[in-house]
Amino acid sequence: MTTQRIAVIAGDGIGKEVVPAAIACLERIAELHTLDLRFTYFDWGSEYYLQHGRMMPVDGLEQLAAHQAIFLGAVGSPEVPDAESLWGLLIPIRREFQQYINLRPVKTLAGVASPLKAAQPIDLLIVRENNEGEYSEVGGRMYRGLPQETAVQETIFTRLGVSRVARYAASLAASRSGRLTSATKSNGIIHTMPFWDEIVAETARLYPEVSVTSELVDALAAHLVLKPWTFDVIVASNLLGDILSDLGSSVTGSIGLAPSANLNPEGEFPSLFEPVHGSAPDIAGKGLANPVGQIWSGAMMLEHLGHIEAATHLQSAFESALRDGLGTRDVGGPSSTAEFTSGVLSAIDTLAASQ
Ligand code: NAI
Ligand code: MG
Repeated sequence: MTTQRIAVIAGDGIGKEVVPAAIACLERIAELHTLDLRFTYFDWGSEYYLQHGRMMPVDGLEQLAAHQAIFLGAVGSPEVPDAESLWGLLIPIRREFQQYINLRPVKTLAGVASPLKAAQPIDLLIVRENNEGEYSEVGGRMYRGLPQETAVQETIFTRLGVSRVARYAASLAASRSGRLTSATKSNGIIHTMPFWDEIVAETARLYPEVSVTSELVDALAAHLVLKPWTFDVIVASNLLGDILSDLGSSVTGSIGLAPSANLNPEGEFPSLFEPVHGSAPDIAGKGLANPVGQIWSGAMMLEHLGHIEAATHLQSAFESALRDGLGTRDVGGPSSTAEFTSGVLSAIDTLAASQ
């Protein structure tokens, strides 16, 4: 039995509620599948920032590098500027560990009603570029406080960065329906977006079984609300992918359901698994947080670590708890975070007994 070391950062707000819920499920699954998962807990985040003036220690990345995966809740607090919390922890991890793919599944789950009338089943994947694009450090502010005050923020697209995310998305599309949609805005953004379009088209030509459609992101957003079931794989830049994935998860019922994987496909560095949602300070500490996004991220982590049966077992368990109507309030169910988690733990045992 190989030991796999997992770094756990619960972070802030509801991260502190949904991470323990998901870890309880992962521990039960590990026991049943005889997996040796060793969890190491790091108390980094906004409270650490208020004490030490930084979101994680100076050697934080070195400490994380000794693990096979990172399991994160969320970071962000009303007491810390959002740019500090994001750029002090999550963005350095994504960049230094070359987690250039942010994979965000969007899927209808039985027992969760979509806010759309007459919704058909949705099962799509958003592949978001995770290392460059609009989230760049290039730029600055001049003439602060003066009438001519100016802010400049540059978008960075590189051939390497765009072609590797396009390759990943195209090969994913090839393994599914062959349909790939690329989010663009090349009518308004006339340098970087045509460059993105060209490289995506060039890359897709290497996959004859894949047909790629470039869609302007404003129309694509509307399309994602009106007919989300017509998409299969969507590839998008850092900012566009971020926006589309909140939208995508909301049309399936709640942002609390959505999981994500920040992947370093080459496996040179640990990959990071986290729900799409943030720290939700508006509901933190009230037992209202939906832990599905975090538990599902745990299933994606198990799959990434090579434990396919364990991942399927966990996935079936939370899907069955939702199907049984045990969901949290955000999906119209009666349960608190803890009650739903107990439901998933029971489903894990029931499924194990029926095998
Ligand atoms: P958010 O995702 O935290 O919350 C948006 C809305 O969805 C809120 O009404 C919240 O109550 C609800 N919600 C979110 N997750 C839920 C769950 N699991 N169950 C039930 N309801 C849920 O986004 P918001 O409010 O924009 O950001 C709050 C903080 O989180 C900010 O400091 C932001 O910077 C940070 N953030 C952190 C992220 C990360 O760590 N990856 C991602 C997004 C935001
Ligand atoms: Mg987001």
